[in-house]
Amino acid sequence: MNSIVSSRVFRNYYRQRTANQWHKVEAEGGVPGAIRPFLAGNWKMNMVPRSGVALAARIFDLCRGVKDVDIGLAPPFTGLSMLSDYIKPDFLRTEYDLGRNVFLLAQDTFFESKGAFTGEISPEMLAAIGVDRVIIGHSDRRTNLGKYFGFGSSVARRLTREFLTKELERLKAKGGADPKIVAALEHLVAEGNQEILAGTAKFFEEELKQRAGESDEAIQRKVHAALGQGLQVILCCGENLEARDTHETFTLLERQIRIALDGVSPRAMHDLIIAYEPVWAVGEGAEPATPDQISEVHDFLRNLIMDLYGEQVASSIRILYGGNVKPDNIVEIMAIPGVDGALVGGASLRAKDFADIVKFGLEK
Ligand code: PGA
Repeated sequence: MNSIVSSRVFRNYYRQRTANQWHKVEAEGGVPGAIRPFLAGNWKMNMVPRSGVALAARIFDLCRGVKDVDIGLAPPFTGLSMLSDYIKPDFLRTEYDLGRNVFLLAQDTFFESKGAFTGEISPEMLAAIGVDRVIIGHSDRRTNLGKYFGFGSSVARRLTREFLTKELERLKAKGGADPKIVAALEHLVAEGNQEILAGTAKFFEEELKQRAGESDEAIQRKVHAALGQGLQVILCCGENLEARDTHETFTLLERQIRIALDGVSPRAMHDLIIAYEPVWAVGEGAEPATPDQISEVHDFLRNLIMDLYGEQVASSIRILYGGNVKPDNIVEIMAIPGVDGALVGGASLRAKDFADIVKFGLEK
């Protein structure tokens, strides 16, 4: 099998990365190997343990001898143990001529180490079964509503008023409702008793927060907990369609990154990878972001890391793209300056597709 480094596509990747101002530190003896491309498959809620091992075996078979890229596999929690036993470096070397470039990824972690947290898994538990890296803040776990914009009471009030209006209409249409209740509702909708509205809105707000998934603050705690256990972190960020349409993309991304990384030291940043995943580009039927869109966000993110941590960290951190990465667009995506790899969902469940993505740099 050809070495990827000897191939044209990979050389181009390397050249653009080298030409990039961020490369300077590498040349000066910065973090060795930090710019190796990282291609990670997020299996989401798919694969029972045995099918996961079978899929991994097919991928490794197709990726025989590929040593110049890092490969990540993220099965669901239940598949981690079995896959961990399977992907021991010695075995991978003798069986598939792979190096220590295969990483076991968890899809999430909780931030507490133990206790009464039914259903949660701690970073300690992941580390104990050989997990290398953990995905944190995936958009499947964040939500569009509220968390992106900090669900505010004005939204809650609007929802409350809409709810009350509908309720009023329903009662009127049904007929026979207690006239006092109808009058009270009419008054609330028309005048808006601020106290009652605020109270009801608060209730909605809490309710929605409960259901809205992970907040930036929870993600921050997870990042700290994972790094504290020696796990590397793949921190996901990305805007939803509403944010893109209202030109809030950068504000939102900045908020996600600043909060998630609050308190993370420059040293710890060497164990952190960022994945930019525009929510609107993720999943079946969606279109991937265009090279221009990817490029401007990756630049923005690297500049943000530069502001927060300085040049050395900014030059060595890997920033991946995720959102409908497929064998037929991986070469184009990896050619975008500042893209250091991909987080792949759907295509990572098909051995041949994922292997082709991993081997993006090999001559066909
Ligand atoms: P997709 O998912 O490749 O299926 O769009 C990407 C992801 O969610 O990580």
